[in-house]
Amino acid sequence: MTYSRITGTGSFLPEKILTNHDLEKMVETSDQWIKERTGISKRHIAVEGETTCDLAEAAARHALESAGVTASEIDLVIVATTTADKIFPSTACLLQKRLGIHGPAAFDVQAVCSGFIYAITVADKFIRTGSAKKALVVGAETLSRITNWEDRTTCVLFGDGAGAVVLEASEEPGILSTHLHADGNYDELLHVPAGISLDFELVKQGRAYMEMQGNEVFKMAVRTLGRIVDETLVANNMQKSDIDWLVPHQANIRIITATAKKLNMPMERVVVTVNEHGNTSAASVPLALDVAVRDGRIKRGDTLLLEAFGGGFTWGSVLLKF
Ligand code: ACO
Repeated sequence: MTYSRITGTGSFLPEKILTNHDLEKMVETSDQWIKERTGISKRHIAVEGETTCDLAEAAARHALESAGVTASEIDLVIVATTTADKIFPSTACLLQKRLGIHGPAAFDVQAVCSGFIYAITVADKFIRTGSAKKALVVGAETLSRITNWEDRTTCVLFGDGAGAVVLEASEEPGILSTHLHADGNYDELLHVPAGISLDFELVKQGRAYMEMQGNEVFKMAVRTLGRIVDETLVANNMQKSDIDWLVPHQANIRIITATAKKLNMPMERVVVTVNEHGNTSAASVPLALDVAVRDGRIKRGDTLLLEAFGGGFTWGSVLLKF
């Protein structure tokens, strides 16, 4: 049986940092409020001219290096993003060009904060069915471009960044199972209410911003992530205690803590990076994964549960042997 296995991880955060104290000067908020409600201390912001593809390229190069794979060996490129550089071509095609990859399939996946979980699921299916052998899967965002810096209910939450993995065909597991869901009925609780074919004027004026009913999103996220933990364990006939590490979407420390509680998981077994960079949407799961792999917490053979919840609503999980 062919599995897909993560052989390398990488990440990148832009140099410019915006702290909670910086935000205190921009909107009516406080470091204490932000930390207590979200766990976030700072976020990284792409400077003018620094794009999602720039961040994706840096993360991808780190992942290729750590896998010991050259770009020419990659036969599938998937980028999860909500903030593509151009309307078209896809950021995956732009990234392919930067890396000098010619020929294999490249495309973007748009599932907002669940984007990386969706993208790695698609790559896993390509590899299991023999359609690809070495996939580059990236989550990259410049959410700062769709953030209303005058809206304190959203601007304190988000940041820019990228994370990447190289996924290779392997006889050893590997990804054990993936679980994807969506319910489009909730689109207006978390959205940018404009785009190319709807209210394009807002986009042209640079006023196409994220809008969110935070309280409602919070409740849905906690409920839904609790359910997907159960679904994943049942599908694999596993107990909560079989999971070595929870690598959650980094949106809010309170959502992460609630999911960890559902798993009876001590916080020492949960990878938390939200304090360092806020919610980087599709980038957050691979970013957190890379941090814990590089600092030696996550080791080969560990069982990991990756999960995310985001706009759509979309949600999903991946259970894997690292
Ligand atoms: N600073 C100070 N006060 C604030 C701020 C702020 N930045 N933002 C809101 N407040 C005020 C509100 O106006 C409100 O004041 P009021 O009581 O006088 O009306 C009070 O704080 C409480 O507001 P709530 O919205 O009830 O606060 P809550 O405890 O729900 O925290 C938060 C808000 C942090 C947004 C929380 O709801 C949350 O994390 N929701 C989930 C958000 C999320 O994760 N979204 C991303 C999903 S992933 C994706 O796809 C992008």
